[in-house]
Amino acid sequence: KGYFTFDPGFLSTASCESQITFIDGDKGLLLHRGYPIEQLAEQSEYLEVCYLLLFGERPTEEQYSQFKLIVTRHTMLHEQLIHFFQGFRRDSHPMAIMVGVVGALSAFYHDSLDVTNERHREIAAYRLLSKMPTLAAMSYKYSIGQPFVYPRNDLSYAGNFLNMMFSVPTEDYVPNPVVEKAMDRIFILHADHEQNASTSTVRLAGSSASNPFACIAAGIACLWGPAHGGANEACLAMLEEIGSVDRIPEFIERAKDKDDPFRLMGFGHRVYKNYDPRAKVMRETCHDVLEELKIDDPLLDVAMALEHIALTDEYFIEKKLYPNVDFYSGIVMRAIGIPTTMFTVMFALARTVGWIAHWIEMLQTPGQRIGRPRQLYTGESMRDFPKKPRE
Ligand code: CMC
Repeated sequence: KGYFTFDPGFLSTASCESQITFIDGDKGLLLHRGYPIEQLAEQSEYLEVCYLLLFGERPTEEQYSQFKLIVTRHTMLHEQLIHFFQGFRRDSHPMAIMVGVVGALSAFYHDSLDVTNERHREIAAYRLLSKMPTLAAMSYKYSIGQPFVYPRNDLSYAGNFLNMMFSVPTEDYVPNPVVEKAMDRIFILHADHEQNASTSTVRLAGSSASNPFACIAAGIACLWGPAHGGANEACLAMLEEIGSVDRIPEFIERAKDKDDPFRLMGFGHRVYKNYDPRAKVMRETCHDVLEELKIDDPLLDVAMALEHIALTDEYFIEKKLYPNVDFYSGIVMRAIGIPTTMFTVMFALARTVGWIAHWIEMLQTPGQRIGRPRQLYTGESMRDFPKKPRE
């Protein structure tokens, strides 16, 4: 009694059993419900992947149309939420807004408070999936002072999101099909990644039977950090700091220097010690988008040169530090006009389905218990509190 396995950072502790996603980091393998991520990215679309993650199997044609119908039916927000947005400073980080408004949804949908009811859990899942793009686009529109754009249910999931982001009342917006496809791919590639920090946070928060909106808000808070979902934003900030191709070697040397805390953002992964299969797909999409849009952006030149130099550098090869999915998704998002501060919001939007799938799976697990890690106490031994007055 009193002895526990000590595993800081959970490098060797499985926190649960799960049937949703399988990763073999050494082989660079990622499967959702058994299907390889490359095949899903190539042959499926985001909403179908959502169905697969949530329900375990690919939908039939009829199940899929029904699923899409329900998802589109919940895309609007309660009108009162607009006041919630308006309470934020215009220069708030969109992730700060997201942490707040997603949590606030629990004040609107009281049925979600009873998580023991399967039907309530399912409706909450649909609401989150449907409303995340609306909330994300609103957090952006608010920051630039433009009117909110209401969802359009005749568009695809990605198309509707792009429309809410880029449409203005004075001009029609028609998304470029290559951009729409790239957006859908970014969503697919970020949909789930087993027990990463934010998903584990959602599971832990949910293990006390807390409501799903509050749990997802906790996941968003965790995702925000630069070592997790904030990496794509940090990566772009780093590219800006590098500034030009001739300065890359200087930053590579800094990344290798043990006394310098600098790391190449967008490189390395806790699980993949081989090329991240998502990064492979995203790399292709990244090159397609840059080709299609023919954008002349010196930052993108720095990114492409950095990719090449790091992939051929001995330090990075030896430590198995490959560009991760966020390296490429950041470049694609910049190319399609999504501002850097929205990058982590995009990740949150896409990951919501994974968070919900894990939250539902956890609650359905027989004998599910509250998550309650132990610790190794390293503080003071027991001592008497002095009776004399403070010195
Ligand atoms: N640049 C330079 N050196 C690095 C980097 C990097 N990006 N990443 C790891 N290393 C070195 C590190 O210094 C260590 O060296 P040594 O063995 O000599 O001490 C070795 O590689 C192993 O690193 P670690 O920190 O023990 O690995 P980890 O599994 O704890 O960390 C990571 C993984 C992703 C936090 C880390 O690679 C990192 O900070 N990368 C940059 C941030 C980033 O891109 N994060 C996004 C991850 S993918 C999206 C997601 O899952 O959210």
